[in-house]
Amino acid sequence: MQLNNNKYHNLQFYLSKLFNEFIEAVCVLDHQGLIIYSNKTYSNIFNDAEPINFISNFSFESQKQILQFLNNSFTENIPTHSIEKELELKNGELLWLELLPSFFFNDKNQKLLLLILRDITSKKRCELQLLKSEDQYRSIFNQTNDAICICYLNYGNSLSNFIEINETACRVLEYTKEELIEQNPYSVIFNKYEGEFVKIIDIILSEGHAIFDAVQLTKSGKYIPAEVNSHLIIYNDKPAVLFVLRDVTQREEAERKIRESGERLRNLALHLQNIREEERTLIAREIHDELGQMLTFLKIQITLIGKKLNENQHLLKEKVDSSLKMIDDSINSIQRIAEKLRPNVLDELGIEAAIDWQAKEFSEHTGIICTCECSVGEFSLDKEKSTALFRIFQEALTNVARHANANKVLVNLNTYKNQLILEIKDNGKGITQNQVNNPKSLGILGMKERAMLLGGTVNIKSSMNSGTTVRVELPIINKNVTNLYD
Ligand SMILES: Nc1ncnc2c1ncn2[C@@H]1O[C@H](COP(=O)(O)OP(=O)(O)OP(=O)(O)O)[C@@H](O)[C@H]1O
Ligand SMILES: [Mg+2]
Repeated sequence: MQLNNNKYHNLQFYLSKLFNEFIEAVCVLDHQGLIIYSNKTYSNIFNDAEPINFISNFSFESQKQILQFLNNSFTENIPTHSIEKELELKNGELLWLELLPSFFFNDKNQKLLLLILRDITSKKRCELQLLKSEDQYRSIFNQTNDAICICYLNYGNSLSNFIEINETACRVLEYTKEELIEQNPYSVIFNKYEGEFVKIIDIILSEGHAIFDAVQLTKSGKYIPAEVNSHLIIYNDKPAVLFVLRDVTQREEAERKIRESGERLRNLALHLQNIREEERTLIAREIHDELGQMLTFLKIQITLIGKKLNENQHLLKEKVDSSLKMIDDSINSIQRIAEKLRPNVLDELGIEAAIDWQAKEFSEHTGIICTCECSVGEFSLDKEKSTALFRIFQEALTNVARHANANKVLVNLNTYKNQLILEIKDNGKGITQNQVNNPKSLGILGMKERAMLLGGTVNIKSSMNSGTTVRVELPIINKNVTNLYD
């Protein structure tokens, strides 16, 4: 269909008006790059009120790219899609342009290029910024010392195969990323904890995160202990769990060494205490037997000498009497010292009698009323344990005398199930938890260590104005109760 001249000019007018309102820049170029038509946006972008040559808008470097684009476009390679290019304007400004070319022929059958240009600089810069920051995050994700992985949380709270895994995880577990991404976390990370993991997922769901210990199983079959920090996240619009796994081999090794060295020190302390106890027993026996016998022999001799003196030898008789008194005093002293070193009653009558005896001694020497209430059944306590309990009791009483300002002490010894329980309760000023836990409180530490070495405990409690209670618990074989462990 042919348009008559009038209609043709009208159409041209309306098209030109329409293009002028376009938000995109529009221009029509001939094969030499000369501008036949351009709209308002075009002039705004290139700051060119009377555009003549398209290429002259650009710097020398960018002109080469534009020329190539135009040449390609005018020959056979007509692009059907838009092209994005970063170009430099002649004033040095950098612009990202999207170029959308299309062709038509004018009435003289000349091929003209209709070029739509969109300024996409800010969009492109945002995209590049986003890519850069994603790149940075990915490199942090990959270069961290911890293994990181993500799994979806499937229906029924089970975990999917890995959906994200960092390079550290691949290195630690000795897999390639492709191999690992097909694995299920239970088979390589929670190897020994699959059952436990149901509970952990519950915690993650209710609290949003959980920290737990796990074992990683490498491709070559090595076990690596790990501390796992897990978080509930939304990944690709689905609930997922992010796991950060820290290799704790070295920490566990250090902890093991500390534990072992602590055990060695405890054993050494126990050994030293046993030696000390043996020496005390030996010295007590030597003093009691040897010195006691000597003094008794001396006493007999001096008594015999005394009997040989006649009535007139008053002075000598007095000397003999005072010597005999001195020997009696010495025998008493020796007995007291021997008792102090290792009370006979402990070895001969057992712990119950020894505690009773010690309580009476304490009352006598300090004036603090010490009452004993013992309601123990038949039980057996070996020598080591009865010595330990007795020494703990002595230390507790010494503390009452030295620190408590008390005038009454109640001692309670009883058995409960397979425990022997000794309570020493004073009505003094009380003790603070800081004093109990102070590493310088060596007396208290000694009591605790002594009990601990024999499988028992010492607890010291105090409440406002109610004095201090020391509670010792030691495992025993209770003869009245059927012992499950017998
Ligand atoms: N029954 C008690 N009442 C009040 N304070 C106490 C009592 N027992 C201990 N304490 C406090 O706890 C502290 C620590 O006691 P601990 O037996 O460890 O050390 P110590 O008696 O001072 O010295 P030692 O090493 O000679 O025993 C004491 O200094 C005292 O302040
Ligand atoms: Mg003390």
